[in-house]
Amino acid sequence: MKEAKKDIDMETIVSLAKRRGFVFQGSEIYGGLAGTFDYGPYGVALKNNLKSLWWRMFVDSLDNMYGVDAAILMNPKIWEASGHVDGFSDPLIECTECKHRFRDDQVQKKTKKGTEESDTSVSVWSCEHCGTENESVEPRQFNMMFKTHAGASEDDAATVYLRPETAAGIFMNYKNIIDSVHPKLPFGIAQIGKAFRNEISPRDFIFRLRELEQMEIEYFVRPEEWEMAFENWRVRLNQYADAIGIESSSLHELEVLPEDRAHYSKRTIDFEFDFPFGRKELWGLAYRTDFDLLAHEKGSGVELKYFDESKKEKITPHVIEPSLGIDRTILAVLFSAYREDITGDTPRVYLAFPPAIAPVKAMVSPLLKNKPELVEKARNVYLELKKDIPQIMWDDNGNIGKRYRRQDEIGTPFCITIDFDTLGETSELKDTVTVRDRDTGDQKRMAISELLEYIKTAL
Ligand code: GAP
Repeated sequence: MKEAKKDIDMETIVSLAKRRGFVFQGSEIYGGLAGTFDYGPYGVALKNNLKSLWWRMFVDSLDNMYGVDAAILMNPKIWEASGHVDGFSDPLIECTECKHRFRDDQVQKKTKKGTEESDTSVSVWSCEHCGTENESVEPRQFNMMFKTHAGASEDDAATVYLRPETAAGIFMNYKNIIDSVHPKLPFGIAQIGKAFRNEISPRDFIFRLRELEQMEIEYFVRPEEWEMAFENWRVRLNQYADAIGIESSSLHELEVLPEDRAHYSKRTIDFEFDFPFGRKELWGLAYRTDFDLLAHEKGSGVELKYFDESKKEKITPHVIEPSLGIDRTILAVLFSAYREDITGDTPRVYLAFPPAIAPVKAMVSPLLKNKPELVEKARNVYLELKKDIPQIMWDDNGNIGKRYRRQDEIGTPFCITIDFDTLGETSELKDTVTVRDRDTGDQKRMAISELLEYIKTAL
């Protein structure tokens, strides 16, 4: 087998994602809606696997971690207190010709030398839509929160926002968690859910969306312990990257400069990934200090202190926030898993997902679909495995070679085939099957009774 991993462009991933039912354009038959995408059967399975692994590693496996699922619509005063009404904005500029709008920091600016009449040089940018060369002007701030109205009235008093980050729902439940489960510091609250940002120019497939999903934790610590907690979460994020198949060579930690940090942060590390369109933020790790608890204490008038029994004192905990966008994670995982090689004379594409996140763990199929005795035996194997491992798939479409190609592109680690030897044509092979390995293409024979353990060990 010849490995032929090449530079993968976005088009290759977008087309595979569509062809194999991972990701589709949102509202496609109506021409789409910018910044929205829909996940198909394998995309949603991959997403669920990434979420459950995250939850298992960071909630279930750690002490003092608590999950919440807060409402997306929240009292608008929350967004005033958190600084989002005033500060959650991007710099917007507009093409003078076609009126297309762009984020000021996303256009390429260059300096144009002055003319004979005016020798001062000016900064200009080219509109990527119509090509007009525009002179740079001071951008205006555009708030990215989506507004809507709660109830039958559409006046300002009824304005509510679609949350732009899941974090606020966590802060809203800090007191509830303390009062209901009485955690000891340090403790964390985790949430997975949708967030909405009216991005000026959504782009790069599922990288920059208007409707996105986040996995966030607010980890509450004594103020003097923030550095240790920050370091622990830095290590954990690297462990998660490793578990989902993102190679350390394509992940880079960027210490964000003070002037580039969000208003609530005193330290931020961006975990950047080498996407084909550049090295860009994949996840963030921020030290939010006591900013949010103090702001919401002031905004709501409700005390949000923590009584530390061991020290007999009331404190405002500080917060470390690991924040992961699921859509960007899926994009990074697709790029990381993509492989091309040549088996025999045939080129193939496969996704080398770690089995734990693969949307399908194993495919079961009869060698021939028109032989009822093969089909019956294969169905039995399939149904038995599925009782313990739900993400097992039945596939009897086309010939066996086509099925393997299809499963390779979905990233299925094992293909199990029931053939005439399974039925006892060669007596010593009765009740054995072939198991094909996705990455090597090698096949081995195995007793049906060993299959479950074999697959489970890989997960
Ligand atoms: N609570 C902190 C917070 O929301 P952020 O850096 O704005 O911080 C966190 O976002 C993560 O959410 C990012 O690292 C990225 O993975 C994801 N994300 C942010 N904006 C996004 C967008 N427009 N489309 C897709 N994912 C996005």
